[in-house]
Amino acid sequence: MSVLLYGAYGYTGRLIAQEAVDRGLRPVLAGRNAEALGEMSDALDCPVRVVSLSAPERLREAIGDATAVLHCAGPFVRTGPPMVEACLDVGAHYLDLTGEMDVFRRLAGRDADATAAGTMLLPGIGFDVVPSDCMASFVADQVPEATTLEVALFAQGDVSRGTLKTLIEQMGRGGLVRRAGSLREVPPGWASRTVDFGDRERRVISVPEGSVVTSGYSTSVPNVTAYLALPSIVRALLRASRYARGLLTWPPLRQLLHRLVEQRRPGPTPEQRHRGRTVVWASARKPGDGRATARLQGPEAYTFTARAAVEAVQRVLQGTAPPGYQTPSTAFGTDFVLDVQGTKRTLVDSSTSR
Ligand SMILES: NC(=O)c1ccc[n+]([C@@H]2O[C@H](COP(=O)([O-])OP(=O)(O)OC[C@H]3O[C@@H](n4cnc5c(N)ncnc54)[C@H](OP(=O)(O)O)[C@@H]3O)[C@@H](O)[C@H]2O)c1
Repeated sequence: MSVLLYGAYGYTGRLIAQEAVDRGLRPVLAGRNAEALGEMSDALDCPVRVVSLSAPERLREAIGDATAVLHCAGPFVRTGPPMVEACLDVGAHYLDLTGEMDVFRRLAGRDADATAAGTMLLPGIGFDVVPSDCMASFVADQVPEATTLEVALFAQGDVSRGTLKTLIEQMGRGGLVRRAGSLREVPPGWASRTVDFGDRERRVISVPEGSVVTSGYSTSVPNVTAYLALPSIVRALLRASRYARGLLTWPPLRQLLHRLVEQRRPGPTPEQRHRGRTVVWASARKPGDGRATARLQGPEAYTFTARAAVEAVQRVLQGTAPPGYQTPSTAFGTDFVLDVQGTKRTLVDSSTSR
């Protein structure tokens, strides 16, 4: 029983590898850079497989008889397909750290293939989308026949180079909401409101966050909007971006932004991770008197991601891996997020005329 960690020497991959070893696992460290993997192997005493995603046969051999692959090398819209095909072929469960809408949608479309192969496809096992999916499922459970679901995220702390590169790839994509049970494309920053995150109210703006897709599998609520708390200048830029789609997808601009990102440090420092925190708010409503609102306080987003990913891997290695496309809550239950160390869920408002 083993897990292959692909992209193990990236910023988040390293956090996950360390967390896994601290919790008694011995992951196979994989990626395309032999030197970086060798150094990690010496430090963590874990086996190594050097393999490129563009060598399909070698990739299948590298996965070998691993129970699962945890894919940490994004942007997953580019890196996901070869790994997903390899996992389906060799019968290994597939987990990743994506927050990219297209990846969630694409993997949901592979449900029948994964079910036939007896393999689980579980994208988004990090801060995006574990807390929002589990919280959406929790408040929806409190309000049977809810018609509206809203989720809002607040994350205090810095972001990694890999996250920024993935965001650059997503620029110009517009927004996404769920309406009458179907996904609907909307302009960037389409809706905005105020949310009480416990310490204070913050202005949030709609974003294409993963729970807009996963809630279609985790709940039966037909109307879903996800929001993110952002500074006012960023909210204004996001709204303005609807008039600049051509510029945002212009390759020279993306190349310039990638070069600027390369000059940053890999990700938050240990101190920033220690100080940072997250709050995820979710609310379900039905017409009349039915509503439930809850908040989840949690650790900083990259610490959250490492803990959630390893928690998920442990469950898979213990035999919990329902075949087919899964969300965190359909795979492990609505309360899965409470097993991520440092989280606390509070039901802040409930009026459920069942
Ligand atoms: N869902 C969440 O909450 C969450 C949290 C954290 C991270 N993430 C996502 O996880 C991804 C990684 O983030 P990070 O901070 O770890 O980034 P990072 O430090 O830049 O690491 C990225 C890793 O991916 C590898 N990689 C990239 N493209 C590859 C390819 N075509 N073939 C093989 N390896 C490739 C890199 O290896 P090389 O150096 O060899 O290129 C590196 O090991 C990003 O997409 C990020 O958005 C999501």
